[in-house]
Amino acid sequence: MQSKPNRSFESEFEKDVYEGLTRYPKRLYSRYIYDEKGDKLFQKIMAMPSYYLTDTELGILEEHKTAIAEHFKSLGEAFELYELGAGDGKKTKILLREFVEQGLPFTYRPIDISAHVLQVLQKAVIAEIPEVHMDPIQGTYFNTLREIKHQSDRAKVVLFLGSNIGNLLHPQAVEFLRELKDCLGPKDMLFIGFDQKKDPQTILEAYDDKEGITAAFNKNLLHRINAELGGNFEIDAFRHWESYDPETGTARSFLVTESPQKIEIEALDLQVELDAWETIHTEISQKYDQKTIEWLCEQAT
Ligand code: TRP
Repeated sequence: MQSKPNRSFESEFEKDVYEGLTRYPKRLYSRYIYDEKGDKLFQKIMAMPSYYLTDTELGILEEHKTAIAEHFKSLGEAFELYELGAGDGKKTKILLREFVEQGLPFTYRPIDISAHVLQVLQKAVIAEIPEVHMDPIQGTYFNTLREIKHQSDRAKVVLFLGSNIGNLLHPQAVEFLRELKDCLGPKDMLFIGFDQKKDPQTILEAYDDKEGITAAFNKNLLHRINAELGGNFEIDAFRHWESYDPETGTARSFLVTESPQKIEIEALDLQVELDAWETIHTEISQKYDQKTIEWLCEQAT
């Protein structure tokens, strides 16, 4: 391993890749999977029958949309509807339609790291539900949340769907919820989706499909490093590997190299070696039970 003294990075991506590949065991953050190609692959994941999360949540929203809208109506005033990581908005549109029908006064403010995702989403919402007043924000959750604190004193509802909270380990999830709480006033609301513990086989199949869509998605991170930072990962030598621990409820995604690799990343002036069967950890998808959810909420207050 070789490192330049007083190294400076041009982006968070560079810094995270550098840090992730120079530690042991190696890790890269799944948020960097999502470029245009990554977004498309994730759409495909969400359309797979084995990825039960999307359909389950869609079903819950469809079934309870009237009650949900009535709950937000009880704020008794116009509100800003923030959504963290809106994705393609398929789920949110169910709520948006219902809110419009019930005449709720609100501005929809989706927050996403991907400008591309926001553009596609905005086009779709304008086309399908033109009554919605929309004002998207491109950024990371934490930075944006800190900013919105000072932006407006209108009532806020925060949507956090897709069990996205499951991408955080418990201590980070607690920190996240605390931070969120700091950004909200006493009357504001949080509407959050937690994926529950279930048959471990169902979970494994959701994160390791036979067609290899999830594998291609996970590997897109390496494609980005090769393309954007001048890396030389031999991507075909990697396997996507999924594990699920039914006790802790933690599903983890890895990239495992079958053969040793000498990695050079030009933009980082970095050389690292991977041994045969060495792992790069990319993702956590935490599953919950009621006790754990209550514990998280308690920890966050
Ligand atoms: N993190 C999301 C989830 O838990 C998206 C995801 C699905 C994912 N499969 C993945 C991320 C595989 C990395 C690797 O559902």
